[in-house]
Amino acid sequence: MQMPRVRCLIRWLTSMSNASIDAQFLFRAVALAEAYVGRTAPNPPVGAVCVRDGVILGEGAHQRAGTPHAEVHCLSQCPDDLSGATLYVTLEPCSTAGRTPPCCDLILKRRPARVVIGCLDPNPRHAGGAIPRLEAAGIQVCVATGEAAAACQALIAPFAKAITTGLPYVRVKLAMTLDGYLADRTQTSRWVTGAQAREWVQHQRLRADAIMVGAGTARIDHPSLQPHLPNAPLKVRVLMDRHTPIAPADRDAQTLVATEDLGYDGAHLEPALRALCQRGINEVFCEGGGQLAAALLEQHLVDELILIYAPKVLGDPHAVRGLPILPRLLAQGMTFTTINRISLGEDTALCLRPTQV
Ligand SMILES: NC(=O)c1ccc[n+]([C@@H]2O[C@H](COP(=O)([O-])OP(=O)(O)OC[C@H]3O[C@@H](n4cnc5c(N)ncnc54)[C@H](OP(=O)(O)O)[C@@H]3O)[C@@H](O)[C@H]2O)c1
Repeated sequence: MQMPRVRCLIRWLTSMSNASIDAQFLFRAVALAEAYVGRTAPNPPVGAVCVRDGVILGEGAHQRAGTPHAEVHCLSQCPDDLSGATLYVTLEPCSTAGRTPPCCDLILKRRPARVVIGCLDPNPRHAGGAIPRLEAAGIQVCVATGEAAAACQALIAPFAKAITTGLPYVRVKLAMTLDGYLADRTQTSRWVTGAQAREWVQHQRLRADAIMVGAGTARIDHPSLQPHLPNAPLKVRVLMDRHTPIAPADRDAQTLVATEDLGYDGAHLEPALRALCQRGINEVFCEGGGQLAAALLEQHLVDELILIYAPKVLGDPHAVRGLPILPRLLAQGMTFTTINRISLGEDTALCLRPTQV
């Protein structure tokens, strides 16, 4: 009488441990993909690992649009015979040809026993398309759940937003004093935060496809808006102007001036962001200043608001306010969810997700 129950328990325990093994290799695939975040647009970052009996046979990541996908890099390292092997991919393998042939065809040719998919393709035209093709050929397919699935979804959040809405994922960063000022009244205090926070910002630039500032910041700070990190790719610079022309010294080959290049009318930011998405930009990192940040928030275009607080107080009502319209937004019912708190030396970054008003 006990036997079926024992067998059930063994099956349950085995499936639990399989799930944690699957999660472990999916996290490895996420880590491989992470190295190329900010380099793959308009494609998403993707990682893949092929494993048999706990031994990694091959691994790879998608490195740049138009070049081989993660599965191709990974399977090229594997032996010919993949019987008993599991292929872990952070994103559902493509089942249609794009700039490169469909990865599904390659997987069908190489025939691992199992494919574990971190998350489905967010493109509604392709979502789930790979699964019946692989299963029809006798390959077992599992779609991840839990934390590993969440990590795979977070990896492609900008791509998912771009492909489903035509808008880029927008992160806005403002560095402030404790009393909410971006700069002193002379606007010459270039850095509010310390070295560690500034270094962290360089890494945030690296993750994005384009770096944006308002014309006010461009005129006063003349920021390079490039990640100052070894081997960092050049980013598209976006200057959001309105009435005042941008000086030639503040623009270069990587610069898009919103009124000229994005059809910006000086008020409605969404069409300008859509124009960026059409240029293949999935993620925008906006570095202020306060007026532009406030306008993006008011027009519900911000996915993440990053406020970096320095332990300083200016106490000068004539200094530059970080979010001058914040009281109005709060009065209208805007709220925020804290998604992360990061300690950066003396400073603290609060990563917030605004709710729709
Ligand atoms: N601590 C930080 O994190 C940080 C970050 C950035 C800047 N800053 C400081 O902040 C100061 C500049 O900030 P800011 O708030 O004055 O300037 P800003 O937000 O960078 O730029 C304001 C300008 O952006 C243009 N703009 C385009 N679309 C707009 C819209 N929908 N709404 C509002 N403006 C729009 C306008 O240009 P037109 O003039 O052409 O109309 C406006 O004058 C500087 O002192 C800079 O050093 C600090």
